Amino acid sequence: MNAAARRVAWVTGGGSGIGRALALRLAREGWVVAISARRTELLQETAGLAKGSIHAFPLDVTDTAAVRVTAERIESQFGPLQLAVLNAGMGEFVKLDNFHATTFAAHMQVNYLGVVNGIEAVLPTLRRRHDGHIVIVASVAGYRGVPRAAAYGPTKAALINLAESLRFDLEREGIQISICNPGFVDTPMTAGNRFPMPFLMQVEDAAEVLYHGIMQQKFEIAFPRRFVLLLKIFRCLPYALYFPLMRKFAGIRSHHHE
Ligand SMILES: NC(=O)c1ccc[n+]([C@@H]2O[C@H](COP(=O)([O-])OP(=O)(O)OC[C@H]3O[C@@H](n4cnc5c(N)ncnc54)[C@H](OP(=O)(O)O)[C@@H]3O)[C@@H](O)[C@H]2O)c1
Repeated sequence: MNAAARRVAWVTGGGSGIGRALALRLAREGWVVAISARRTELLQETAGLAKGSIHAFPLDVTDTAAVRVTAERIESQFGPLQLAVLNAGMGEFVKLDNFHATTFAAHMQVNYLGVVNGIEAVLPTLRRRHDGHIVIVASVAGYRGVPRAAAYGPTKAALINLAESLRFDLEREGIQISICNPGFVDTPMTAGNRFPMPFLMQVEDAAEVLYHGIMQQKFEIAFPRRFVLLLKIFRCLPYALYFPLMRKFAGIRSHHHE
């Protein structure tokens, strides 16, 4: 009876930032949370903050076989997985002076195919039980092409499209899928940014909104609200308006000869 009451979640990228804050939030609500990332020490440190509730499963999400084995290990230790938050990701800015195909490949491998690996790993158990929830962490940078995100943005756009596409088949099998699109959140990923980050959110607040969105089984969980609204308006604009507005917003001068 106890085992049935224990809801089991898996959070990738759970040793830092948004994943870590969400893992702690879920643990506070009584979930058993498996967290994965490459750096074992960060995973163990996070697990140590909620002993008995958070458990470390070191993993590189680009390793398809290892992702599958990890999902199986989590289930055999804790029981059926109810929630998989595929959040692991990387983000590097690209300028024309450092345009390297390897950077683009790495972003696709981790951000996009890493999530695909996670879906493949949890799909059999969710389908067998006609239950469960997959949450993909993308970004508002996936809405439209934004400055310097040429390697990062397309991976997030791909994730949004992936979630939309899969929803049609998953919902018929009783499986939920959600896409989380954060704006700027204060995490190790953004700590080195040397430009003003509009509407920057604290990581605990981001995790709180994400947690409630998951509980409400929203399809899109996007925050902070005002920034998302602005970018959704940008998304609808014709190019003749989008480019000048985004240039102004991002403080970029046009070198177009006018
Ligand atoms: N912070 C923001 O403003 C923001 C905005 C929009 C979207 N997001 C998205 O939110 C997610 C979490 O990012 P964050 O801001 O919380 O930054 P973060 O603290 O850097 O978290 C990223 C996590 O992903 C893990 N990771 C990276 N590569 C991995 C790999 N190959 N295998 C397994 N784990 C890997 C990292 O751990 P290891 O390095 O130890 O593996 C780390 O725990 C990302 O998908 C990011 O794109 C963030």
